Amino acid sequence: MPRIPAQAAVDDPALRAAYTACGRFAQAANPTEYALMQLMPAALRPACWALWTALSVPDNIIDSTDGTPAERIARMRAWVGRLEEDLDEGTSDDPYRRAIVDTVRRWHLAPRDLHISYAAIEADATGSRSATWADWSTRVQHSNVTWAAQCLTLLGRAGLYIPLRPQYQRDFARFLDGVYLTDTLVDLSADLDRGVLHLPNEVVEHHGVQASDLLERRWSQDVQALIAHLVARARRQVEAPRFVTSVHPGAVILLRAVSDLFRARLRAVERAGPRLLHAGPRLGPVTRARILAPARTKAAAAWTLTPVEVPVTPAPPPVRPTTVPPQPSARAVPRRGPLPHPTRVRPPVIDPERMPGHVAIIMDGNGRWATERGLPRHEGHRAGHTALRDVVHGALEIGLRHLTIYAFSSENWRRSPAEIAKLFEMLAQERCDFEADGVRLCWAGSPDGLPEDLVEGLQRTERETRGESDLVLTVCLNYGGRAELADAAAGIARAAVAGDLDPNRVSEHLLARYLPYPDMPDVDLLWRTGGERRTSNFLPWQATYAELHFTDGYWPDVDRRDLWQALLAFGRRERRYGTVPAAPRPPVLIGPAGGEE
Ligand code: IPE
Ligand code: IPE
Ligand code: MG
Repeated sequence: MPRIPAQAAVDDPALRAAYTACGRFAQAANPTEYALMQLMPAALRPACWALWTALSVPDNIIDSTDGTPAERIARMRAWVGRLEEDLDEGTSDDPYRRAIVDTVRRWHLAPRDLHISYAAIEADATGSRSATWADWSTRVQHSNVTWAAQCLTLLGRAGLYIPLRPQYQRDFARFLDGVYLTDTLVDLSADLDRGVLHLPNEVVEHHGVQASDLLERRWSQDVQALIAHLVARARRQVEAPRFVTSVHPGAVILLRAVSDLFRARLRAVERAGPRLLHAGPRLGPVTRARILAPARTKAAAAWTLTPVEVPVTPAPPPVRPTTVPPQPSARAVPRRGPLPHPTRVRPPVIDPERMPGHVAIIMDGNGRWATERGLPRHEGHRAGHTALRDVVHGALEIGLRHLTIYAFSSENWRRSPAEIAKLFEMLAQERCDFEADGVRLCWAGSPDGLPEDLVEGLQRTERETRGESDLVLTVCLNYGGRAELADAAAGIARAAVAGDLDPNRVSEHLLARYLPYPDMPDVDLLWRTGGERRTSNFLPWQATYAELHFTDGYWPDVDRRDLWQALLAFGRRERRYGTVPAAPRPPVLIGPAGGEE
């Protein structure tokens, strides 16, 4: 029976009972995952149970065979709606939701993270299948990663911050893919019982297998080859991942245990043979104990190296007056639109065809701006941040979709330690809050050498704004373009050595997928302020075909009107991509006004 450790600081008996209920639920539904949660620091386990429950209850509703898909979706939405109301109230009558609400509030988690998973879980109701491995992977990331990300957040909030280096994020995603693929194989027969097949079409078809063969449990050599291929793929993905070497020893032990346990599950899948289509292979108690018992002892010892702090749950929000009926749709805090410019100037109308999709800015001239005013250089950086805020609001106003800014280059370490320290202090204080909704923040760069609070703030903002989509703002901080290309090359080399990639298939398209931020679109317009005409190791891959725009003013003097001017200037450029002009331009008539008539 799950026990709440004393360090978890849960004194209220009803709340303790609520957490215990979540622990019991997790243990009964998924003993393996429950056992792995027990490898987390003791004080954090109840929160892990609650978060697991927050995802498993809706998942169970969708996976049940009770009612039509539409009815199951309606039931899941009703449960999620009640959770939202409970989050507003600060508590719940339902034990599961009471523990979930306490976890979200105590650890300041973003409920939005849960919603990303809810959307992915809901999509499963229709039984729609992924076409390719890439689609499959996106689905895995959405339905599972929020849980993994929230556990990482818990560790960070408890003082056990675990930085995941960007160059290892791909490895981490691949590891989670392997975990999920193993689960899919173990649960294959249960899914087939429900008439669902979670494997991507491309791999099933490649082996000459029809979905109906599996749904009708027809074992053949092709099915055998398909399963063998999937087991081999999952095994490579869950092999002790490289990224575990750079994190807290407690996390290393936990991730190694995941790797050992999932490889044991894969051996069980292999041994099952044709029985796999009829029953999920289970791990024997001896195998589980052989892996988990030593991991438990080692993890407990490792986590004691760093004291864990459990925050107190904030007081519940004031109770709503009973005369006002609860309005689920009005529950959300009103969205904060872009703030207007002080002059109230409105953005120009730009033909959507002439609007760049992605603008990248080298915000240069902060130091000179400050020096000319007799101020220390860091005051220039502070003023530059104010300029950036205005430009972000202007980008939202005009409907720009991608804005990437250069905040600190890998070469900027050559500056004085005092300037660097002040710059980082300012960036950590600002916390990338642009006081407007709709901005999804992404960070491109390395955590090496950066202060922990800055890295933690950036990663937290990335997680918390993941659901926003009006403007993707990528902050290149401790970023180097060549380092990014070297990371891509290293990733490709690793994949080739692991047998996941045929070196003859390396193309421009494939290389782009191995960049640390593969979803960043090509830059259409690259703008540098401050008078210099160079790109200083900024986005060498993405900006090869960018239109360049240089302005002489210093960055702190810029505001949204300069961004709009840059967009208008872009609209006048002719982009040819190696072709010749489509048609000769009409001659430009120079003469008095009205001369064109
Ligand atoms: C750009 O402004 C901001 C950073 C590099 C952090 P600079 O600090 O380079 O300003 P100048 O070029 O010295 O004026
Ligand atoms: C580039 O500016 C980096 C940022 C704007 C953050 P620099 O001012 O450091 O560039 P160089 O060294 O003069 O080319
Ligand atoms: Mg400069």
